Amino acid sequence: MFQVVVKAFSVSLAAPGPRRILLSARHYCEKTPTKVRVSEALSRTELGTNVKVQGWVRSVRPQKTNVFLHVNDGSSLQSLQVVASPELDDPLLTFGSAVEVTGVLKKSPHQRQPVELEAKQIRVVGECNPVDFPFKIKERHSLEYIRQFPHFRCRTNAFSSLLRIRSEATAAIHSYFKDNGFVQIHTPIITSNDCEGAGELFQVEPSGSHIDNENFFSVPAFLTVSGQLHLEVMSGAFSRVYTFGTTFRAENSQTRRHLAEFYMVEAEVSFAQSIEDLTKVMEDMFRSATEHVFAHCVEDVDLFHKHVTPGHRDTVDAMLKNRFPTITYSEAIDILKRSSETFVFPADWGCDLKTEHEKYLVKHCGNIPVFVTDYPYDLKPFYARDNQDHPQHTAAAVDLLVPGVGELCGGSLREERLDLLRARLEEVGLADTYSWYLDLRRFGSVPHGGFGLGFERYLQCILGVESIKDVIPFPRFSRSCVL
Ligand code: 4AD
Repeated sequence: MFQVVVKAFSVSLAAPGPRRILLSARHYCEKTPTKVRVSEALSRTELGTNVKVQGWVRSVRPQKTNVFLHVNDGSSLQSLQVVASPELDDPLLTFGSAVEVTGVLKKSPHQRQPVELEAKQIRVVGECNPVDFPFKIKERHSLEYIRQFPHFRCRTNAFSSLLRIRSEATAAIHSYFKDNGFVQIHTPIITSNDCEGAGELFQVEPSGSHIDNENFFSVPAFLTVSGQLHLEVMSGAFSRVYTFGTTFRAENSQTRRHLAEFYMVEAEVSFAQSIEDLTKVMEDMFRSATEHVFAHCVEDVDLFHKHVTPGHRDTVDAMLKNRFPTITYSEAIDILKRSSETFVFPADWGCDLKTEHEKYLVKHCGNIPVFVTDYPYDLKPFYARDNQDHPQHTAAAVDLLVPGVGELCGGSLREERLDLLRARLEEVGLADTYSWYLDLRRFGSVPHGGFGLGFERYLQCILGVESIKDVIPFPRFSRSCVL
């Protein structure tokens, strides 16, 4: 149901002399209004022209001589101010309603906005009862509050900014890889392998009873936990490959940095000789994407850095100014042991680094991202390369730890030596399952390595957002799959 309001035409025609009325009336009738997005309107290129803007009302202010509306269509954080004569006011013109406004773009007399739209016609396309609508005009709702309304939170300033940043960061990451000669591979979502071997798999089966569940794929099938093994296949032909897609983990933990469904950026580089060949890609990608986002989403990023996470800009600027240091796992354990901090989990050589350890290490290194390399061999999955020349048994693996989040990236050189890989797979009883993976080492094997970056954690890191649930459109975690 919608209401059409067409009243305005006489208003702006009343003031000037008759000849001008006639001309502007003819102009208005003859010219079909150009449809513009709010961001285009604000860029002033259409000044003086007859335009049509469609969007949602962010504020309504009826005054004696005029009604002021702010209309937002998601193209920018800023809304377009619409000035309408009181005759155009309508009870259905409320906060949250969807409207179509036709009129002339004028330079605004107010400094706060470059242009305003002098309305000739306002059509309420979709009503919105402001009493029942969960968001209230002029109120700054917390991220926790708006999270309760996954079907509406994109209508708030904070979340729409987040989604524009997310979109721009996605494009920036694709650009980084394209500019650096990587081929994008669409790795499968349904897979028969558990790349990480951690058993955090969601099994995939047909839901209809008319289908023979057990035999649909002939083998047990799962939602992917990582596209790495498929990328390794492709790196054997393309040298540099990447994928950027949805990844799933049946983790029962409800933390501020874990989701059951998240996006991972993964890269695989053939002929990589050392961990530095990987850390360079990780660091360059981080810098390039962040600089791009900060340059192209100025207002959206500012909203976070000024109102949601004040002070965080300084932290990110420090990250971008300094090279990311590298320490070995053994050095990390020494640092933790020497610290005066009391950890819940004692830091002994061989232990997995916990969030509290990661946070301490980041602070210790100057609150900038830090690479930790050469983890105990037994902590890493079967594919990690054995550092045979090290005094302690370690693998050529690396994690990137970042302020506020902890682990952002995990990667390693892959074991490319057939005999060592076969021995490890036999040890864990997976040699038959991964016979195809062993084949990769039998036919044209090369030293190679790669990494995965958690995209939501990346957004948390650059924006300073506390909960991972606030940087993804529809968060999925244990006991929650809303919408
Ligand atoms: O360290 P992970 O488990 O590494 C892998 O999956 C490798 N196979 C990647 C590769 O080498 N191609 O995961 C990589 C990153 C983590 O550092 C973290 O940022 C993110 O993925 N991540 C999660 N993000 C949100 N929720 C979860 N449950 C996550 N688990 C991992």
